[in-house]
Amino acid sequence: MKQLQHFFKDKTVHQILDVGCGSGDFIKVLRDTFDEHTQITGIDPGEQWLKEARARFPQENINFSCMSGETLDFEDASFDVVSLSNALHHLKDLEQTLCEMKRVLKPGGWIIINEVANGDLTEAQENQKMLHHFKSFVDRLHGISHRQTWKPEEILAIIEHNKLSVIDSFEHLKMKKVNVEPHFLDEKYWQMESLQEELQGRPEYDQTKDQLPVFKERLEQYGFQTAPQLLVLAQAKNG
Ligand SMILES: C[S@@+](CC[C@H](N)C(=O)[O-])C[C@H]1O[C@@H](n2cnc3c(N)ncnc32)[C@H](O)[C@@H]1O
Repeated sequence: MKQLQHFFKDKTVHQILDVGCGSGDFIKVLRDTFDEHTQITGIDPGEQWLKEARARFPQENINFSCMSGETLDFEDASFDVVSLSNALHHLKDLEQTLCEMKRVLKPGGWIIINEVANGDLTEAQENQKMLHHFKSFVDRLHGISHRQTWKPEEILAIIEHNKLSVIDSFEHLKMKKVNVEPHFLDEKYWQMESLQEELQGRPEYDQTKDQLPVFKERLEQYGFQTAPQLLVLAQAKNG
């Protein structure tokens, strides 16, 4: 990611922590931004994701631990950069996690928050939001912490509210083009359908049935594209 490389080109970074690393999509961005002498640690509470991440990044300078963001098992002031990508809306205790991220950050260090945002979406991006929000709805019914996505200004407000100063921010796209390929659209429809199937036996099953044909028609009409992500570079406010 060019903007990130440009931002860090004159900064010294030895230790990075990626909170909620999942299977490592943002670890890849970090690996491409910093050189092989930078030590990157990914943490996630999902051991199944970490297994994938370990296989994907066997490099010596990248390692993983099973842990939640709310209780980081690291000394104070251990990292030059602490990142959180597409995990803010998954956190059980958002304030506690941001507090922990600041605690393990060295004075003058950088926090990177990358988060899918839902402002001014195209119809194809609205389709991704529909699927994502349905997934978060089903997750919440199962007792899994998963909020809906926020608008860019809401993400910035959360960051400022948690005593972080925004230094820079920019939007970027994971999927550069709208995908209209029938197989791909079928897959998205099947994802929605299987989420709906999970609701069998609950009142929500009948309540959400009508969404399926609407989603199918929208996919055929507009295609599918991931919503933009907002990347925010921030520093801890003093005091
Ligand atoms: C959508 S994935 C994002 C993965 C990766 N960071 C990326 O950018 O693609 C959200 C991740 O947040 C993790 N997560 C959920 N609750 C968490 C918590 N309390 N602390 C840390 N990570 C958490 C999930 O296990 C999941 O891997």
